[in-house]
Amino acid sequence: MINKGYKTFYIKTFGCQMNLHDSEKISTILSLSGFTRTNRPSHADLIIYNTCCVRENAENKFYGQVQTLKMLKESRPGLKIAIGGCLAQSEGERILSKFDHVDLVFGTGNYMDILSLLSEVEHLGQGLAKTDVSSAQSDVLATDRENQKKSWVTISTGCNNFCTYCIVPYVRGPEISRPMDEIISEVKRLAEEGVLEITLLGQNVNSYGSDLYDGPRFHELLERLDVISGIRRIRFTTSHPKDFDDHIIKAMSGSKKICKHIHLPLQSGSDRILMMMGRRYLRGDYLKIIESINSNLPGCNITTDIMVGFPGEGEDDFLETLELVERARFGNAFTFIYSPRKGTKAFDMEVNSTDEVVLDRFNRLLNLQNDMGLQLNEMMVGDSFEVLVDGFSKKDGAILTGRTACNRVVNFPGPSDLINQFTRVKIEEARSWSLKGRVIETR
Ligand code: 5AD
Ligand code: SF4
Repeated sequence: MINKGYKTFYIKTFGCQMNLHDSEKISTILSLSGFTRTNRPSHADLIIYNTCCVRENAENKFYGQVQTLKMLKESRPGLKIAIGGCLAQSEGERILSKFDHVDLVFGTGNYMDILSLLSEVEHLGQGLAKTDVSSAQSDVLATDRENQKKSWVTISTGCNNFCTYCIVPYVRGPEISRPMDEIISEVKRLAEEGVLEITLLGQNVNSYGSDLYDGPRFHELLERLDVISGIRRIRFTTSHPKDFDDHIIKAMSGSKKICKHIHLPLQSGSDRILMMMGRRYLRGDYLKIIESINSNLPGCNITTDIMVGFPGEGEDDFLETLELVERARFGNAFTFIYSPRKGTKAFDMEVNSTDEVVLDRFNRLLNLQNDMGLQLNEMMVGDSFEVLVDGFSKKDGAILTGRTACNRVVNFPGPSDLINQFTRVKIEEARSWSLKGRVIETR
C-alpha cells in the first residue's frame, strides 16, 4: 500500500528519448494511483531523478544535482527521493551509500514496480536498491505526456550490439522486441486519443523482431502501422547502419505517413576506427546506404551522431570523418567527445590524443556541420512545408515552433490556437539548425 502521506511528485529526466519516455510512463503510473505532478521540487513529497550514464558529463550533472537535494530533505523529513534509469542501474547500492538522503534506487527494468518499491521503502524504514534487469517490457500507455498530439512508442528495449565505447547494453540489457500486435494496439489506442504523430523507439529499431519467434521485420511493422487511421506522421529512431536495408526504404517510399527523416549514427568516417568501435560496417557501406536513400527517397533528411577522440583516432582518421560529413550532407549531426565508460571494451584502450587536439577536432567538425546544415537549409528558402506546431519558442514567447515531416525545426510568428495543429509555413530564412518562416494557410 502506498503511504497516502506523499502525494505530489516531481520528476527530472537526464539523457535520451528512451529515458524521457520512461519518465512519462513513471508519471502515468503515479498519476493513475492518485499522485499529482508538480514542476517545483520544493513542493514535492516524492522526487524522482531518471538518470543517464552514456557519457561522463551526464553522470556528473546528476551527481551535482542530487547533492543539492540533501538540504531539501533536511527541511522536509517526509520527502522521499528515488533515483532510476541507467546510472541507477549501473551504480545500484553505491548511490545509497554515497547519498544517505536517497530512499530508493531502481533500475531500467524496475520502473513498472515503482509503487510497490515505494511501499517497501516505507515499510523497511531504510534505503532500498532494486536493479535486477527483469523484462523491461512496457505495457503502460503513457498518457502523462508533454505533448498530447505526439507520442513515443517503445518497440524494443535493450541492445545486443556492444559497440566498444557504449554502456547501453550493460545498463539496458539484451534487445527485447515487443510483440507486433501489442505495438499495433497501442498505436490504435493513441490514434483514438487524438495523437497525430508517433515516434517508434528502440536502440536499434532496424533489428526489430529478430528475437521474436515468428520474426517480423521492421519494415513489416512500418507497413502495419501505416494503415492505422488518425495517425498522420510515423517516425522512428535510432537506426543502425549495419541493419538498415532497402526494405525500409521501400516501405518509406510507399507511404505518405512515414516521415522522410532517418537518424543514422555514423560515429566515425574511418574504417580503422569503425572496426575498433565494433560497429560492423565500413565507410563504403554507410555511403551506399546514403546513395540508396538519396536516389529512392528524394529530399529525405539524414541526421547522424558522430564521436571524436576515440582511442587510436589520428588526424588521418578524423579527416576521413570530415570528408564523409561533406559527402553525406547531413541535415543535422549530434557531435560528442568520446567519454571512457567503465565496463566497456574501449575503457582499457589508450586515448592517444590530448584534450586540446580532441577539442580542436570537435570544433572543426561542428563548424563544418554548421556550414553544411546552413547550405541545406538555405535550399528550403521559398518553399512551404506542413508543420506540426509544438508550442511557443522557449527563447521568444511570441514565436511558435514546430517541425516539418523531415524533422526540420521551423520558427514563425503566430497565435496560440495553432499549437498542436498542422499549418503550412513558407520558409523565409535559414539558420544552421532551424528555419524561419511565415504561415500561409491554416487547416
Ligand atoms: N562517449 C561519447 N559518446 C558516446 N555515445 C555513446 N557512448 C558514448 C561514449 N562513451 C554517443 C554515440 C551515440 C549517442 C547516443 O551517444 O554517438 O550514437
Ligand atoms: Fe550503444 Fe551501439 Fe547499442 Fe547504439 S547500437 S545503444 S551505440 S551498443
